[in-house]
Amino acid sequence: MAVLQLDDIAKKYNRKVWGVRKMDLEVEDKEFIVFLGPSGCGKTTCMRMIAGLEETTRGTITLNGRDITDLAPRDRNISMVFQNYAIWPHMTVFDNIAFSLKLKKMSSVDIKKTVEEVAGMVKIGELLKRFPGQMSGGQQQRVALARALAVKPKLFLMDEPLSNLDAKLRVVMRTELKAIHQKTGATSIFVTHDQSEAMSMADRIVIMKDGEIIQVGTPDDVYFRSADMFVAGFIGTPPTNFFSVEFRKEGGQVMISHPKFQLDIGEEEAERIAKAGVSELVLGVRPEDFILVSEGKGILHTQVLVVEPQGSHQVVAVEIDDQIYKIIVDSDQHLRPGDPVSFDFDRSRLHFFNKETEKRI
Ligand SMILES: Nc1ncnc2c1ncn2[C@@H]1O[C@H](COP(=O)(O)OP(=O)(O)OP(=O)(O)O)[C@@H](O)[C@H]1O
Ligand SMILES: [Mg+2]
Repeated sequence: MAVLQLDDIAKKYNRKVWGVRKMDLEVEDKEFIVFLGPSGCGKTTCMRMIAGLEETTRGTITLNGRDITDLAPRDRNISMVFQNYAIWPHMTVFDNIAFSLKLKKMSSVDIKKTVEEVAGMVKIGELLKRFPGQMSGGQQQRVALARALAVKPKLFLMDEPLSNLDAKLRVVMRTELKAIHQKTGATSIFVTHDQSEAMSMADRIVIMKDGEIIQVGTPDDVYFRSADMFVAGFIGTPPTNFFSVEFRKEGGQVMISHPKFQLDIGEEEAERIAKAGVSELVLGVRPEDFILVSEGKGILHTQVLVVEPQGSHQVVAVEIDDQIYKIIVDSDQHLRPGDPVSFDFDRSRLHFFNKETEKRI
C-alpha cells in the first residue's frame, strides 16, 4: 500500500529558476494520478523530487506516514520510468529487467519467475533474449516499464513514458498501462502534456501551470467544472470557446450581453454572478454545447468558415465578432463554407469566469 503526501514542496534551481513554486497534494492508495500541464510547468521536477533525484528547496514528502524528503532514492521503494526510457543497450531484455532484482540479491529462481511475470504483463515475453537494438521503440518502451514494475514498487512514477511512440501505439499502450495498474494496484503518478491521455487514464488529474497546481479533480471535474479559463482552454478538443460578455440587470430581467447576442440565464446562475459582484465576464461554451437550429432561430447567427470532418462528428469553424469559434456538429448535417448557420447554447452547460481573475464563478 502507498499513500503519498506532498506538503508545500518547492524547487528553485541554482537559487534562480523556480521548477516548482508550491505543491500540496495527497495521493491515495492504489490511485492513478496524472500530472498534466504545458511544457516547463514543473511536472518532471516534481516527479524527480518524489523519487529523490532532486533535492527539495522547501516542504515535506511523506510516504505511508514516513518523512522521505531527505531519503536516498534507493531507500524509497519508488520506481520511475523516464521519457527517454534509458534501457541498457549491452544487456538482453532479460538482464535489463533482472538488473535491480540481482542487486537486491533475489534468488535466480525468483528472478526468472518475476522477469517472466512482468514481461508477460507488458507483452514482451517472447523477446527476453533480444538486445534493445533489435527491437522497435514501442518494444523498448515496454522493457523500461517491465524493469520498473519488476521491483514491485510501492509507488510507480512514469514521466511521459509514451512520448516516443507513434500516435496509434500510444493509444494501445495507454489502455495496457491502465490494465496493468488495475492488476498490480500500485499507486501511480503519470506525467503527460496530452490532455486526452490524461482524461482517459486518470482517477484524478493534477493540472499544473508555472510551477503550481491549478486544479485537482476527476476527469469530469476538470472538464465540466474547470476551475479557471486556463483549465477550460486546456482540456477538451477543440477546447472551450470564450466570449467576453457583460452581466446586466434591466428591470427584473437579468441579461448576459455580447455585441452579437443576448442571453437570458436561470435565476440560480444569475444570483451566483450577482454575488460575485462583477459585470465583466467571460462566458465559456464547450464545442458540443452549441445547438445548431434552423436558420434564423436561436440566438447566434453567423456563417460557416471551415468544416473539418472527423468521422463520428464534424468540427465547424465560424467567425463571430472577429474571433474564430469551433463547434461540434453531427456528421449528417451537410454544411459548406459560406452557409448561414444559427445556434443556441445548451443553457444547462454554460461556464462563467471572472474576466479579471479568470477564475470560475
Ligand atoms: N536542471 C535544471 N536547472 C535549471 N532549471 C531547470 C532544470 N530543470 C528544469 N528547469 C526549469 O524548471 C522549470 C520546470 O521544468 P520541468 O522539466 O519540471 O518541466 P516539465 O513540466 O517537465 O516540462 P516538459 O513537459 O517540457 O517535460 C522549467 O522552467 C525548466 O526550464
Ligand atoms: Mg518533463
